[in-house]
Amino acid sequence: MTLAVISDIHGNISALDAVLDDIARRDISRIVNLGDSLSGPFDAPATADRLIALDLPTVRGNHDRQLYDRRPDQMGLWESWAIDDLSQAHLAWLKDAPLNLVLDDAFLCHGTPGKDDENWLDKRGPMDRLVPRDLAEILPNAQGIAQDLILCGHTHTPRIVRLPGGKTIVNPGSVGCPAYLDTRMKPEFVHQTGAPDARYAIVERRGGQWAADLIAAPYDPEPMAKLARQKNADSWAQAITTGWFA
Ligand SMILES: [Fe+2]
Repeated sequence: MTLAVISDIHGNISALDAVLDDIARRDISRIVNLGDSLSGPFDAPATADRLIALDLPTVRGNHDRQLYDRRPDQMGLWESWAIDDLSQAHLAWLKDAPLNLVLDDAFLCHGTPGKDDENWLDKRGPMDRLVPRDLAEILPNAQGIAQDLILCGHTHTPRIVRLPGGKTIVNPGSVGCPAYLDTRMKPEFVHQTGAPDARYAIVERRGGQWAADLIAAPYDPEPMAKLARQKNADSWAQAITTGWFA
């Protein structure tokens, strides 16, 4: 099984289409989506329409849940840019996605198996940056998972982690949001990958174990940056055109 893994699209349909083109060019037909599909200042309804038509195995992200939950305390800035443009059908599609999904030999979640808003492989470290977690911090969330391949997103940080015994955890990074300001953590902190490319991963069995290629696909972000500027989200426009957050 060769699988393309996409996550954290955040309404960036230009990045999504670039990734879908790149996947098609490699003749890969199986794609999974790890959630956080729509929230952000880009084109949420077009992204929803594309994803609904593709009918990919999809788990829900924290920002997906916050969109259909609709309680004021759940509705953050990222949701406020998207919610008014989404139809009931779009929200129903988001609500349909489970927290976790098992697909053959792969276990899918957004954050961790138990929480859609928990950083699994990385944590906030010194200098207000995400740093890789120690093995002892990663292992507990893998307890009880029978599958050899574990896929997670949420941190927008591409990573491959091999656990003792051979289980492999892959975070493909973010398709549509290469840098952001995390306002939920106090004090707020910036996460940035330093390149504007759309990230995803290809996973397949090689030599008896799971191997992953972390892909960075260049694309033209300017149409999405224009939409972000129209929503006064200038820092997002800069993030997707540079990979850095001002
Ligand atoms: Fe996200």
